[in-house]
Amino acid sequence: MVEIIDGKKEAKHLNEITKQHIEKLAKSGIVPGIAVIIVGHDQASERYVRMKDKKARSLGIYSIMKHFENDISETDLIKSINELNHDPKINGILVQLPLPSHINEQNIIQSIDPKKDVDGFHPLNIGKLFLNLNEQFPVACTPKGIMTLLAAYQVNLNGANVVVIGRSPIVGKPLLALLLNANASVTCLHSHSENITLHTKKADLVISAVGNANTLNDNHFKPGAYVIDAGQNLDINGKLVGDVSYDQNSKNIGFITPVPGGVGPMTIATLMQQTVEMCEWSHV
Ligand code: GUN
Repeated sequence: MVEIIDGKKEAKHLNEITKQHIEKLAKSGIVPGIAVIIVGHDQASERYVRMKDKKARSLGIYSIMKHFENDISETDLIKSINELNHDPKINGILVQLPLPSHINEQNIIQSIDPKKDVDGFHPLNIGKLFLNLNEQFPVACTPKGIMTLLAAYQVNLNGANVVVIGRSPIVGKPLLALLLNANASVTCLHSHSENITLHTKKADLVISAVGNANTLNDNHFKPGAYVIDAGQNLDINGKLVGDVSYDQNSKNIGFITPVPGGVGPMTIATLMQQTVEMCEWSHV
């Protein structure tokens, strides 16, 4: 029997805690604020951004959305970010990725004030994460949400064999740092890796952030393995599916996050949590 790691339930719990923090700040007349920037009309990006805005408002976070056309120049985009850098109502700035090809993503990310970099993508914040500095800084929301979920299910990471599949700056790389900082033995596999099964079969925990349906199945895992599926893929019927195919009778998988209802809700709840944390950090 495969047991489900319920990201939806944990996200709800996390949102309740975040709401308590927001109510406490309100007593001092403080309202956390987030600004989300989106360029162009990619349907999936528009959907994610709307979900973030809706969740923020429902929790009582001040939320603004800036929607630019595909042909906005890099200079104009940076100008808009600069305004938000200086806007005292805004604690977190998120630029939805990917951006059109004429815009250099690093120039955009690095134009965000690192103290307002709610995505944790700025090189300064990524550096702090890898150095495991003992200070407060933002961390990429999907990896941070995965760590929260693992903690909620009391998954012991100390000395555990963990395989991360994917090395993107959004999920794979920050996750490597978080897992290392939690004393796991971490292996990272990617598109050039050979014999994936050799590694996954030995892993206590496998985290897949590939972005391809059916990348993994039950035969890839050792009995009782924990599996976190961070894939968000559309199948041929337009249905959201993860990277891992399995069913209730799968023999090896012990615990898994479903898609939808696993990592996705945790990412958005973590974004809300981090917006509020960054507001709190700016007031101490
Ligand atoms: N595109 C896909 N995931 C993300 C994310 O977590 N943050 C941003 N800004 N863009 C994304």
